[in-house]
Amino acid sequence: MSETRTAIVTGAASGIGAAIADRLGTDGLRVAGLDLTACRVGADGISLIADVTDPAAVDYAVAEVRRTFGRIDVLVNNAGISGSPEATSCHLTPIEEWDRVHAVNSRGPFLCTRAVLPAMLEQGSGHVINIASVAGLVAFPGRCAYTAAKGAVVQFTKSLAIDYAEHGIPVEAGPAGPAGGRGGADPDGPGGPARGTRRRGFRAGVDPAGLSHRPHPGGGRRLGRAVAPGRGAKEIRSG
Ligand SMILES: NC(=O)c1ccc[n+]([C@@H]2O[C@H](COP(=O)([O-])OP(=O)(O)OC[C@H]3O[C@@H](n4cnc5c(N)ncnc54)[C@H](O)[C@@H]3O)[C@@H](O)[C@H]2O)c1
Repeated sequence: MSETRTAIVTGAASGIGAAIADRLGTDGLRVAGLDLTACRVGADGISLIADVTDPAAVDYAVAEVRRTFGRIDVLVNNAGISGSPEATSCHLTPIEEWDRVHAVNSRGPFLCTRAVLPAMLEQGSGHVINIASVAGLVAFPGRCAYTAAKGAVVQFTKSLAIDYAEHGIPVEAGPAGPAGGRGGADPDGPGGPARGTRRRGFRAGVDPAGLSHRPHPGGGRRLGRAVAPGRGAKEIRSG
């Protein structure tokens, strides 16, 4: 098995995902780009055509990466959509648009992360980065579905961070604003990370360049406090 590190980047055919894939490739990682259309991933990479909302397609793609490279070191859950022009305020948003936005932005990261974790747990190492949005922290007006879906990504990130830090798999979210910045939108106010969150590898505002070199890229801006069950989390029961 080769020791060259391998990254899967979803939504790598364009925009931010293409830039992340490009940078990781430049930094020496072998990149598997996963998108609905082909990705340009360099000579050492592979392009996987798959829909992140389709469990069978995701499982097949991840298995293909393991077959090809032998390991999975980094997953960047970047594929995302903001929804059609009809997906605006709640009462105007078509139900199918709500479902579509949540499927790509929230179900997609769940399926992809679920698929790579067995390999990372076997290796005893890995790194998951979820591309959230400032919309996951503060509401974008007239963007009900996107705001809610990115909020789910933020909480999903916290859940993963607290569950997998002890397995050597840090999980982070970015960009929550300018990548690597320390802006003023932090809901917990200024200062360092909440107690325990740095240790648990939860951070936001990831600098993609840092992923190639360090398991915990620094300079991030925290999204909030990760609270372990039974250690301060309020439990609300229905019925
Ligand atoms: N552009 C911004 O200003 C901004 C700001 C904050 C967060 N984000 C987030 O960054 C991520 C990338 O945004 P972008 O602006 O580069 O978008 P983009 O539209 O340029 O790229 C998104 C990519 O995801 C792919 N994709 C969409 N649905 C998919 C699916 N079901 N399966 C597989 N691939 C799929 C698309 O084909 C596309 O290549 C998104 O999650 C977005 O919400 C973007």
